[in-house]
Amino acid sequence: MHIGIIMDGNGRWATRQGLPRTAGHREGAKAVYRAVEAAARSHIDVLTLYAFAAANWERPRSEVAALFALFRRYLQAQTSRCLARSIRINVIGRRDRLDPELLEAIEHCEWATSRCDGMLLRIAVDYSSQHALISACRHIAHAGSLDRAAFIAAMDAANHAAASAPELDLLIRSGGEKRLSDFMLWECAYAELYFTECMWPDFDATVLQAALQEFSNRNRRFGRVQEPAGAGHA
Ligand code: FPP
Repeated sequence: MHIGIIMDGNGRWATRQGLPRTAGHREGAKAVYRAVEAAARSHIDVLTLYAFAAANWERPRSEVAALFALFRRYLQAQTSRCLARSIRINVIGRRDRLDPELLEAIEHCEWATSRCDGMLLRIAVDYSSQHALISACRHIAHAGSLDRAAFIAAMDAANHAAASAPELDLLIRSGGEKRLSDFMLWECAYAELYFTECMWPDFDATVLQAALQEFSNRNRRFGRVQEPAGAGHA
């Protein structure tokens, strides 16, 4: 099962407490540890976390710098935890605009966990689904043939996706907004969507379990008609 999470609400959480937005991101990083632990315990195969959208470059420089410092520290600290739980890390998104120190931390944790065969933890940084789709279109146009597998491989290449993940089963968005924000538009084709009012810094195993519970009650038909129980083909 593949779960994606749009981790929204750090800024509002902080503002409500009279704190700067960056304090919300710091608390958000703690929630990331909780979410990863809870997902691994629930035997989720792939967890993709939306940490930094390409559109987030428009935020104040100080906030962007604080976020990137958090990502670097997180990757450094999380590597040994992931090794202990056999979690493989893959940072997806563009890499050409990241600073060398963050790039080094990304490459190190991906290399260190590359043989882990438990949950695949993907962290989306400088990620834009539309950018990956356009890159894949360019690649396909150049190659001269449209083939679904080649198209997906081209999207994965644009995203630095080390292992191709199955499409999304469940998309969770915290923070009360109900939109996709350029996150895995292709992979969300048949995803179940779950929106929670919980601000990301408050996210924990209980919120994840509520989402999984709701997911298990959804009737996924993938465009087909559901036959009544016991009905066979004539
Ligand atoms: C959206 O909340 C959140 C982000 C743009 C950053 C996500 C970052 C984290 C969860 C912390 C660190 C992550 C890792 C992987 C260590 P917002 O700032 O848009 O909140 P708002 O909508 O309330 O303003």
